[in-house]
Formats: sequence, C-alpha cells, structure tokens
Amino acid sequence: MTDNPVIEAVDLARHYQVRRGMFARPVELRALRGANFTLRAGHTLAVVGESGCGKSTLARLVTLIEPPSAGSLKLDGMVTAGAKGPALQALRRTVQIVFQDPYGSLNPRRKVGAILEEPLVINTRMTAAERVEAARAMMARVGLRPEYYHRYPHMFSGGQRQRIAIARALMLRPKLVVLDEPVSALDVSIQAQVLNLLAELQEEYGLAYLFISHDLSVVRHVAEAVMVMYLGQPVEQGPRDAVFNTPMHPYTRALLSSTPTADPRRRGVRIKLQGELPSPLSPPTGCAFHPRCPLANSRCQIEAPLPRAAGAALVACHAVEEGRIDATAPRGARN
Ligand SMILES: Nc1ncnc2c1ncn2[C@@H]1O[C@H](COP(=O)(O)OP(=O)(O)OP(=O)(O)O)[C@@H](O)[C@H]1O
Ligand SMILES: [Mg+2]
Repeated sequence: MTDNPVIEAVDLARHYQVRRGMFARPVELRALRGANFTLRAGHTLAVVGESGCGKSTLARLVTLIEPPSAGSLKLDGMVTAGAKGPALQALRRTVQIVFQDPYGSLNPRRKVGAILEEPLVINTRMTAAERVEAARAMMARVGLRPEYYHRYPHMFSGGQRQRIAIARALMLRPKLVVLDEPVSALDVSIQAQVLNLLAELQEEYGLAYLFISHDLSVVRHVAEAVMVMYLGQPVEQGPRDAVFNTPMHPYTRALLSSTPTADPRRRGVRIKLQGELPSPLSPPTGCAFHPRCPLANSRCQIEAPLPRAAGAALVACHAVEEGRIDATAPRGARN
C-alpha cells in the first residue's frame, strides 16, 4: 500500500479545436483552463459549477478517455502522459467511471452477467467459472438479486440500472471512481439509496471518488472537499465546510444562495447571478466572472486572479484578495 494520492493534477487543461461553419477557421475552445488538486484514497472531491464549465471534460481526462492539452496528471503515483503497454493497462485498472445515464452506458443487447464479466474477460486471466462467481458476488454487494444475472438492462428501473453500472465499475477493483452526475437522473428517494450504497462501497474498498454534480445539496451530503468551477477554471476549492459555511468567491456565494433550502434559519439574502454565462469560445478578459460579478472593478476586467489561500480554501478573486469581500456577508446555504 503506497501513500500516493490517487489523483495529482497540476495545471490540467483541455482545449478543443472547433469550427463554427464549414469554411470558418477552427478556433480554440478552452474547456478546462488549469485545474490543480489532489485526491486521496477513501476521500471524495466534489466538482460543481454550471453546465458547460468543464466538469465532464475533467472527468474525461481523469479517466484517460482523452489526454490533457497541457499540465500533468498522475493517478496513484503513475504519470499518465505517454503511458503505453503494461503501464497504460495498470493506469486503466486504477480508474473507472459511472455516468449520469445508465440507459446510455449499458449495452442493451447484453445481459447483466455478461456486462459485469466483460471487464474481467478483457483485463484478467480468470476462468469463466471464476468470472461468474465474481459477477454474482458483486451483484449481491450492490443489492441486485441473483436472478437478475440473466436479464437485460431495459428490464430494470433507473436506480437498479445505476447499481449495475456501479457494479461494473468495481469489477476490476479500481482505486478511483469518477461519478459524473451519478444520481441526477434518479427520483429523490432513489437518489438517497444510491448515495448510501456509494458511501458503503467507498468505506469497504477504500475508494476515492471524484464526484461531479450540479446539485449542491447532494454535494454537501457526500463530499469532504469541493472544487467550484467557472468557465473551465476552479474559482474556489477547499474543505466542504469552508466552502459551504464561509464561501468567499462571489460565484460560490451566488451558487449557494440559489440553492433552495427548507430551513428558514439557513435562508440568507439571495445573491443573484447577473447576465448570461459567457461562451467559452470567447471568455471575458481578466477574471472570467467579472461581467456577472457585483464586486468587479477595473482590475478584474484586465487581470486574471490567481488562486490564493483564503481561510481554509483557495480562492481566485481580486475582491477576496483585497479584502473587498466580507466573509460574514449575507448568503444562502448557511448551517
Ligand atoms: N469534444 C468536444 N469538442 C468541442 N467542444 C467540447 C467538446 N467537449 C466539450 N466541449 C465544450 O467544452 C465545454 C465544457 O464542456 P463539459 O461537457 O465539460 O461541461 P460540463 O460542465 O460537464 O457541463 P454539463 O453540466 O452540461 O454536463 C463546453 O463549452 C462544451 O461545449
Ligand atoms: Mg457534464
């Protein structure tokens, strides 16, 4: 057992070349613009932010579906850049992903047993009998009845399908599971069951979770650390309680205050996000958040803020750095 972080990301970035017309010149879309974080075994880091801020892009890099355009990524101490052959195989076994939509991610023509055994066929030398045993054991572990082994994915409810996807992700005993909106498509009552199952499995297997969600009440429940992203960049990251109880970045404050809360004591003055989310094809100059920020000044329009320590968190904001933001100012989702 090593003490390496399961993820070490340094200045991780991903750009895409996109064309806005047949004859138009390709332009660069910077979907992820420099993420720095580590994640340790047994822990959960949540990534939150509006649609298009780069959450799934980050997920694709961490799961080796795509290489980063810049920066470096280590998984379980192994450098991912340029990995080939056995090194790449070892990396691939380290990380698995569970998507939001288990309808799309499970092969409709294969039975549950075959779906679960497929990773073992490809990656191990287990015999057929051993694979069946392993699949059945995992089914029991995630709460799927033994007779489901012979059924097809369409015969299940959304929650059960997500259990199948989780079981498949764990067949090769990964150290890291990337969960990209894993419960967003499920009914609230089912969400809680799947989140509880994920928590049990994390404890049992010492899993690290990179948990992507736009739902802050889910994040508050599952994560120990939170990274808030805006237009491809982390703007605030730190321990869950710091980010939720003393949010610093005006964007974090706005996100939290737009989350409905049933408890009247937790209702603060709402900070409304002004204006539209800008296009990542032409991000604003300076701080990308400045056109929507109630605290923006001329410096914010010109100079991009760097992440700096603010309390227990890292925050990229001139107003925070200059003390123009009051940590006790009104906001929404206070404990
Ligand atoms: N393959 C691609 N080619 C070009 N642009 C892409 C590609 N994949 C993603 N993008 C763009 O990169 C940006 C980030 O997309 P991403 O899917 O990571 O966002 P997200 O935070 O996961 O959003 P959502 O909450 O809607 O899932 C978006 O502007 C998206 O249009
Ligand atoms: Mg996404």
